[in-house]
Amino acid sequence: MTSATAETTAQLQYTQYGSPLKMVHVPKPALAPEEVLIRQRVIALNLIDVKQRDLGGILIPHWPWVLGIEGAGIIEAVGLDVRGLQPGDEVMAWEGGGAIAAGVEFFPHGGAYQEHVAVPAFFVGKKPKNITLQEAASLPICFVTAVCTIVNSLKIPLPFLPGLSTDGQAPSSVLVLGGSSVTGAAAIQLLREAYPSLPILATSSTKHFARLHDLGATSVVNYRSPSAVADIKAASPGAAGVDVIIDCVSAGASQTDICDVLDPAGSKHYAAVITGVPVPVPEGVTLVDGNAYSMLDMQGGRQLISSLTKLVEEGKYRVPLPVRVVGHGLEELPNVMDEVKSVSGEKVVVTL
Ligand SMILES: NC(=O)c1ccc[n+]([C@@H]2O[C@H](COP(=O)([O-])OP(=O)(O)OC[C@H]3O[C@@H](n4cnc5c(N)ncnc54)[C@H](OP(=O)(O)O)[C@@H]3O)[C@@H](O)[C@H]2O)c1
Repeated sequence: MTSATAETTAQLQYTQYGSPLKMVHVPKPALAPEEVLIRQRVIALNLIDVKQRDLGGILIPHWPWVLGIEGAGIIEAVGLDVRGLQPGDEVMAWEGGGAIAAGVEFFPHGGAYQEHVAVPAFFVGKKPKNITLQEAASLPICFVTAVCTIVNSLKIPLPFLPGLSTDGQAPSSVLVLGGSSVTGAAAIQLLREAYPSLPILATSSTKHFARLHDLGATSVVNYRSPSAVADIKAASPGAAGVDVIIDCVSAGASQTDICDVLDPAGSKHYAAVITGVPVPVPEGVTLVDGNAYSMLDMQGGRQLISSLTKLVEEGKYRVPLPVRVVGHGLEELPNVMDEVKSVSGEKVVVTL
């Protein structure tokens, strides 16, 4: 049974590669000055959790480790240097993933699969008033991944986001592969908010076409169709092809002729969100990685998650996909965490 006391908290520990997750009670972490302690109410599931469990310990800086990278809850305590957040605030956060940059470990107390999680304040944003805590838990990671891919990797400006700058320029058209992934749905609406008349093409299964049009896609193509590549090209401006591809799901690893949809006269940039599956591109196409961790080094990156609150409240950014609760309680997490492998156009979460 989980049950935190005033001094302790419960967490699911991954003790060694291949072992089952184990419920353990530990003292609540002592907060560093820049950290906040969140009493978890919702843990959002991410494919990265399963990859960390199954792929030889990627992004696991030490053992035992607590999996999970996203969630939402109520602030229980704040470190001495934290401003703008206080106990009692409902918040959403990026909560783990073993980020280490320049020798700094950002989640020394482990990730989201625990009743209390301590994270640096710049990974935390207040819950927007117009959405539920469950919806809020689904927001930060896909938003940051999409922003980093667009602005940091492709140098495409998103001028409505405060503090971000890049020396690149607007594309003439974009294809989002995996439009019904949370990252793809985030990317579509970010591009639409920034560029009201930009042709945005996307791929998904047919049942998600309406949702993606609603988020701002101009044309959506069924990626399972044998004529998908020809259909994308036909839907591009003047049927000349697209300027830029954003691949959120390593679609190019199986659809190896996808770069035929690039306009020979365009910039021929292909941004692949890092998924662990490499995407081959032909000569002449510039491949760049999309990675949420680049938020840490990007100018304005550390304000991104706090800026989400206002964007959502002002209607400039929407919860990308519907959220479904697949379980309740830490005990249930090991039984339901694989649900993330078969999601289709939704985000799955566990409530506590
Ligand atoms: N490096 C990073 O910083 C970072 C951050 C976040 C995520 N990721 C990785 O990025 C990937 C996407 O994560 P996510 O959470 O956004 O994904 P997700 O929501 O779990 O993606 C599921 C969706 O992918 C779609 N899909 C699968 N194969 C496709 C294909 N060949 N073409 C088009 N659509 C396809 C499915 O579409 P249909 O249902 O329509 O068939 C489904 O709706 C994961 O591998 C994750 O580990 C990396």
